[in-house]
Amino acid sequence: MARRKYVVGNWKMNGLSDALGEAQAIFAAADGHPMVDVAICPPFTLIGAMAAAAPGKAIGGQDCHSAVSGAFTGSVAAQMLADIGASVVIVGHSERREGFAESDADVRAKAEAGLEAGLSVILCVGEPREIRESGGAIDYVLSQIAGSVPDHFDAQSLAIAYEPIWAIGTGLVPTVADVAAMHGAIRGALAARFGDAAEDMRILYGGSVNGENAAELLDAGDVDGALVGGASLTAAKFVPIIAAAA
Ligand code: G3H
Repeated sequence: MARRKYVVGNWKMNGLSDALGEAQAIFAAADGHPMVDVAICPPFTLIGAMAAAAPGKAIGGQDCHSAVSGAFTGSVAAQMLADIGASVVIVGHSERREGFAESDADVRAKAEAGLEAGLSVILCVGEPREIRESGGAIDYVLSQIAGSVPDHFDAQSLAIAYEPIWAIGTGLVPTVADVAAMHGAIRGALAARFGDAAEDMRILYGGSVNGENAAELLDAGDVDGALVGGASLTAAKFVPIIAAAA
């Protein structure tokens, strides 16, 4: 089955309620590209309002706790995301792995919780600069894949996002050949573990994607979409990326 392109905006810790119009504008423009799946992951505080403002659209959280409920002050369970209208959750973003000391095992547990709650999961991996420079990027990322991807899931419900940490928010982007090599290696590792299902899994690229470089990156081998940070905050910047995926 051909994989549909998937373009996801990760708003990170940006956006107050006056940003809902921007989301509506993005989803309205995305309707003009029906072959592309589009999701926006705003801060937790905007999910409910965005779901109400853009009914039927794919809206997600940027993290979830692995437990269903309990004494975890400040945390949000996957089921809670689903309860307020989310259908997607990002887990394992490097800003969580690094800033909140999340291990591969933590990320796997969060992915399992998201799947259990009926959410579509985007599981992030990616190497730091020194690993890239030492030539160990593929081994590093495949180790993250081995440790953080759950054993059981529907291939349509779990996407991998490859985000080299040094490319996030920096304007630096790997060469297209390097992106293709990494995505091919990820696909190969998934095939070795999950067989034919790996062909149905989407592997997104993230890190300084913008309207100018999106087409080239999205055309690279085994790139099925993009996870976009800064350039997803406005329709003016995000819609060209969606159009490049069409
Ligand atoms: O989740 C998104 C990524 O961290 C990429 O962020 O597009 O601002 O580089 P960026």
